[in-house]
Amino acid sequence: MSEVLCVRGGVPLHGNIKVGGAKNATLPILIATLLASEPCTISNVPKLEDVAILLRLLEHFGARTKLKDDSAEIYIPEITAADTSYSLVKALRASFWVLGPLLARKREAHIALPGGDLIGARPVDLHLSALTQMGAEIQVKNGAVHAVAPGGLRSAEIEFKFPSVGATHQVLMAAALTPGRTVIRNAAREPEVVALADFITRLGAKVEGAGTSDVIIFGEEKLGGAHLALIGDRIEAATYALAALATGGCIQIDGFNAQYFGEFLEILDNLGAKVTVGNDFVQVLAQGRIKALHVQTGPFPHFATDMHPVLMAAMTLADGESSITENIFEGRFGHVAELSRFGAQIVVNGRVARIKGVPKLSGAPVDAHDIRAGAALVVAALAAEGETVIHEIHHLRRGYASIESKLSNLGARIESQNEDLEDTLLVGC
Ligand code: UD1
Repeated sequence: MSEVLCVRGGVPLHGNIKVGGAKNATLPILIATLLASEPCTISNVPKLEDVAILLRLLEHFGARTKLKDDSAEIYIPEITAADTSYSLVKALRASFWVLGPLLARKREAHIALPGGDLIGARPVDLHLSALTQMGAEIQVKNGAVHAVAPGGLRSAEIEFKFPSVGATHQVLMAAALTPGRTVIRNAAREPEVVALADFITRLGAKVEGAGTSDVIIFGEEKLGGAHLALIGDRIEAATYALAALATGGCIQIDGFNAQYFGEFLEILDNLGAKVTVGNDFVQVLAQGRIKALHVQTGPFPHFATDMHPVLMAAMTLADGESSITENIFEGRFGHVAELSRFGAQIVVNGRVARIKGVPKLSGAPVDAHDIRAGAALVVAALAAEGETVIHEIHHLRRGYASIESKLSNLGARIESQNEDLEDTLLVGC
């Protein structure tokens, strides 16, 4: 039986909310435990479906895993498999990133190609070219990547034509277990890359320049175990910040370093928010109507593509015409049609969406097509007058733990229900 989220909007949100560990740091760091010969403990692990899938994947490779509260213990004494199926890579795109660590530790990997998805084509050419430069022999056939490195990988100097997050993770991991000095030029600079580099350093490799465009990895023959506490989730934090603005409230987001926002901090300011930054929190206060703004997505520190749908939800209520240019994923406009159901006025032309602000939204039945589109619908529903029922929230569950209880604590009227109760919910939630 599928779940829906039922929201009665129009209530300004007030109070404190704590973000979980960053999903996009958790996934590569859990994958990096494939490199470790000793036990690892990762804490501040978010309770998300994606994390559960990844732990099952690690078990397939021989991991002994234990998840207790927000802490995951992983020990992989020996890698017992070298393959992943299409269904797994399809369920969790990041599982493709096991390619590098498997090649480094087992010298062999057979991984289904992830293929495109709703937000864009998402090729993996940068991953394959980098690993080839590190000595892997790679064949792509029957929908899978077959890679071997009989004599082991070798260090290399790699230059990316684009600072891909996934390809940077891939090379960081492969190079950590490859003796010698590997250089990545035009590396991704996202906070999640820095977090992975931190973990790899704790395992015993040396990484210089993480968070800049030039990263140097001094790899080792063997890596030990390590403990790491995950950084707070910047995309979840941005979602709550925009919920504060869209509902005309004031939210303090705890467990989060504002530096991870990059350009988004300035964007909040330009939208008219009063932003107060502390050591481990950000407070966002709405001051009147949201100001219209023109924004482009880009690699960190520029505005994150994952924040785009949620920002668009807030911009639907701005005073004037805003625009968002999507420079990372050409197909990331699936949320536009759903936002229009609330009465939003949005026109998309190529990679540019123009959003004409309206004074208010009205609740509607909508479908969440992916994680961030789902978050955008939650923000729109919280701001809209009347009732909204959000369907297909399993997507939302992949990136947002306990979202109903967290938002209820801020005064939101939000609850999950079984879909077959929908008729009741539409009149009475
Ligand atoms: C990661 C994030 C995702 C985020 C994205 C961009 C995780 C689990 N996912 O995805 O949430 O939206 O970063 O910040 O952390 N590209 C190529 N060839 C490649 C690889 C990428 O052309 O081999 C292109 C992609 O098509 C896209 C751009 O590079 O246009 C960015 O992709 P990338 O940074 O690799 O995103 P992911 O790592 O897949």
